[in-house]
Amino acid sequence: MTKYLVTIDGPAGAGKSTVSKNLAISLNYIYVDTGALYRGVAYYTILNNIDYTDTNNLKIQLDKMDLRFKNIDGDLKLFLNGSDISSKIRTPEISMQASKVASIELVRSYLLDLQHKLGVEKNAVFEGRDMGTTVFPNADVKFYLDSSTKERALRRFKELTDSNQTLEDVEQDIIDRDNNDKSRKISPLKQAEDAHFIDATHMNVDEVVNKMVGIVSNISS
Ligand code: DC
Repeated sequence: MTKYLVTIDGPAGAGKSTVSKNLAISLNYIYVDTGALYRGVAYYTILNNIDYTDTNNLKIQLDKMDLRFKNIDGDLKLFLNGSDISSKIRTPEISMQASKVASIELVRSYLLDLQHKLGVEKNAVFEGRDMGTTVFPNADVKFYLDSSTKERALRRFKELTDSNQTLEDVEQDIIDRDNNDKSRKISPLKQAEDAHFIDATHMNVDEVVNKMVGIVSNISS
């Protein structure tokens, strides 16, 4: 059986997660949210008070970490050393720490390995920042999804349920994270040359997904 890999990259708040999830449902592919893995590492470093800039110690700590997805009723949940941490990794604190640990070479190579192992079996939609450029440069279809900074901040703001952040705080966080993600030395966020660029500023989720389904169907038929 031919196996298809679709990648979706783009900055924070562009709607990648919802779009990727819905695209995977439409295509009957599995959906892998690789940002959750970086959030898992961030959560682990905060929980255990780990200085992620201390490379020797970080290596020892990463070796003790068992990070994996488990399919619970059709949803991929993230487990850290046996506990489901999916509901604990979406706070602004973890978002910022995830962006910081994502610039550490050791973390990226550790997760690169993990992502390759996840990509071997099934048709999948992989969502992240460097899916089309570094992790799966030979993916069958690549997308780069973006929206204006204002629109992205507004979407993230509406998603926050129990936070004291104002819209301006959220926008500033997004600008800071964009800077971290785009300026890091290893695997910075950037569009792969062969990726389809989609500006979702004035598109809803269904419009984006339909456009993607059309492109994937053309290529895989
Ligand atoms: O998509 P997200 O907001 O959950 O990602 C959290 C952080 O992880 C984000 O700031 C950048 C980093 N990340 C990355 O560097 N590479 C990926 N493939 C996915 C996420």
